[in-house]
Amino acid sequence: MEVQKIFENNKKWVQHQLAIDTNYFKDMSKGQNPEILYIGCSDSRVTAEEMMGVGPGEAFVHRNIANMVPNTDLSAMSVIDYSLMHLKVNHVVVCGHYYCGGVKAAMQPKDLGILNPWLRNIRDVYRIHKDELNTIKDEDKKYKRLVELNVQEQCVNVIKTSEFQQAYNDRKVTVHGWVFDIHSGKLIDLKIDFEKILDQIREIYRLH
Ligand code: CO
Repeated sequence: MEVQKIFENNKKWVQHQLAIDTNYFKDMSKGQNPEILYIGCSDSRVTAEEMMGVGPGEAFVHRNIANMVPNTDLSAMSVIDYSLMHLKVNHVVVCGHYYCGGVKAAMQPKDLGILNPWLRNIRDVYRIHKDELNTIKDEDKKYKRLVELNVQEQCVNVIKTSEFQQAYNDRKVTVHGWVFDIHSGKLIDLKIDFEKILDQIREIYRLH
C-alpha cells in the first residue's frame, strides 16, 4: 500500500462521516466515555473496532504481541489504571486469536533475543497448564488451547490489579475472555467465571 493512499482514504472518510453527521468531529472533540477496555493482539488481521462493530469513542484499546497483561509492563498497567479509574469503563475484555504468532513463538524452544522476556510470560502460562496441554497430542489443538489458556491467565492478571479490585468493589466491573477465530471471523466467548477466580485468588492477591 502506498502511504499517500492513506491520506486519500482519510479525506474520503472525513467526508463520509460529515455527510452522516455535520457535528461528528465537533462532538468527538468534547471527550471520550467508552464502556469497554479492549486488550488484544497487535496482529494486523485482528482488528479491534471493526470485528466488534463499534465506532470511535466506544472502546478504549490496548494491543501488544499476544494480548498480554504483564504486571511489570508500564504501558499495560497505565492503560488499566486510566481506563478503570478515570474513564470508568464497565467491562474489560482480553481477546486472543487462534494462530497467534506470539503464542506460536513461545511454543518453540528457541532464543529470540529481545522477544525472550516478553514470550517468557506465555511460556509461564504453558508451565502452569503443562499437565492439561501435554495430554493434547495434536499440535494444532494444543496451540489453540494455549491461546485460550493465555487469554484466561491474562484475565487473571487483570483481576490481580489494584485498579480492577477497586472498580469491582465500587461498581461491579466485569472481565471477559474472548478468542477471535481467524478462520471464520467469529468471536468466541470463553465464558470465564471471573468472580470465581477472584474468590480463589483473594487469599494471596487481595489488595482491596
Ligand atoms: Co497474535
